[in-house]
Amino acid sequence: VWSQYKFSSVLAFFSLSRAKKPTKITEQGKDYLEGSSAAADDPVHLKRRVGLFSGVALIVGTMIGSGIFVSPSGLLERTGSVGISFIIWMACGLLSLLGALAYAELGTMNTSSGAEYAYFMDAFGGPPAFLFSWVSTLVLKPSQMAIICLSFAKYAVEPFVSECEPPHSLVKLVAVISIGNTRHLQEPNFASSTATLGNIATAFYTGLWAYDGWNNLNYVTEEIKNPSKNLPLSIVIGIPLVTLCYALVNVSYLAVMSVSEMADSEAVAVTFGNRLLGPLAWLMPLAVTISTFGSANGTLFVAGRLCFAASREGHLLDILSYVHVRRFTPAPGLIFHASVSSYLFTHKLLENLNDDSLIAVAMVLYGTIDSLIDFFSFTAWIFYGGAMLALIVPIIIPYIVLFVSTYLVVAPIVDKPQWEYLYAAAFICTGMLVKLLFFYK
Ligand code: ARG
Repeated sequence: VWSQYKFSSVLAFFSLSRAKKPTKITEQGKDYLEGSSAAADDPVHLKRRVGLFSGVALIVGTMIGSGIFVSPSGLLERTGSVGISFIIWMACGLLSLLGALAYAELGTMNTSSGAEYAYFMDAFGGPPAFLFSWVSTLVLKPSQMAIICLSFAKYAVEPFVSECEPPHSLVKLVAVISIGNTRHLQEPNFASSTATLGNIATAFYTGLWAYDGWNNLNYVTEEIKNPSKNLPLSIVIGIPLVTLCYALVNVSYLAVMSVSEMADSEAVAVTFGNRLLGPLAWLMPLAVTISTFGSANGTLFVAGRLCFAASREGHLLDILSYVHVRRFTPAPGLIFHASVSSYLFTHKLLENLNDDSLIAVAMVLYGTIDSLIDFFSFTAWIFYGGAMLALIVPIIIPYIVLFVSTYLVVAPIVDKPQWEYLYAAAFICTGMLVKLLFFYK
């Protein structure tokens, strides 16, 4: 009784309370699920505060992050041809749209927060859902944060270090702006392509990273106003917007640099800015830091909700399912994810991990941005494919996305096996082990 008393005073001190799970049976639960106001005054729910504008902002703001600034070089390197890399850029947009449309269907059928977690729970039961929450909390979300924040850091320091390449003259810059240099675009040279089936899949890994976040709104379904309308609408507005934006950015990059310059550029947006903006070149790194910071914000926002949804079912620590009683946010989940990321970065800063890290995931998190992206996309697409399985009905879209995600997972292993893939698989297995040890025994 005493420890219970102490625990509840600690919770009260931090203004936390356990959130009630909306039931699907009672009238109040029905109201809640449909987003009407009868249950809106209940103090312990997350409130429905995400409207259409915020929905589009959450999708677009998270999708546009580091990828469009780091992926174009990698994609070009992997395909060896402008033509093919442009096709892959657009195919990534289409695939994300198809995936998100299937998720819109899932999200209107199953109105719980937590995206894949909630759908696996419904379609396949506890163990696969637990597995997802395990991998997502310990691998997917931290590696997303690692990639985004590494890119943030790379560009944030960029204005303070000198570039080796001599800056081009202002005249040339003005000429580029006024007539637009399309030399490199006119030769979409398919002949030089180095694309094999495996290469194309890993090129997709790179491109799909830039589009990742298309499913973000599904993590917060319980907080969307009128979700059956606003969820699909936000998806249909947000993803084509990002695709169009990426197409234009790619064209712009190639307007000012050659294919090999682009493939070799360490920070393609900075090279672009140096050529085009002259004395205002510092705007580019600033824009990248703002974009990556926003993406990190959206990533953390949904990571907290995922923790919340999974711990509410008893799959993660109970405390992560609590809600701040005045802000109506899953504060412990958010703090948990912020701490995990900060912990990893502190270690990275202190260069500690090279010596004392024994676990594979830590080694992976210390990899380069490119290897992290491969590791992330490989793992994420296993689960995106799984969510399509939850929706298999006689319509064609989920089959297409399921087929492509199977290809994305299998082709790189066959073509050129990398340790990252093995780590990812091993990590998923450790989840099963934990499940067996702690849940069944
Ligand atoms: N697309 C983003 C970028 O290019 C990364 C989004 C990470 N994914 C997520 N679901 N938050 O940086």
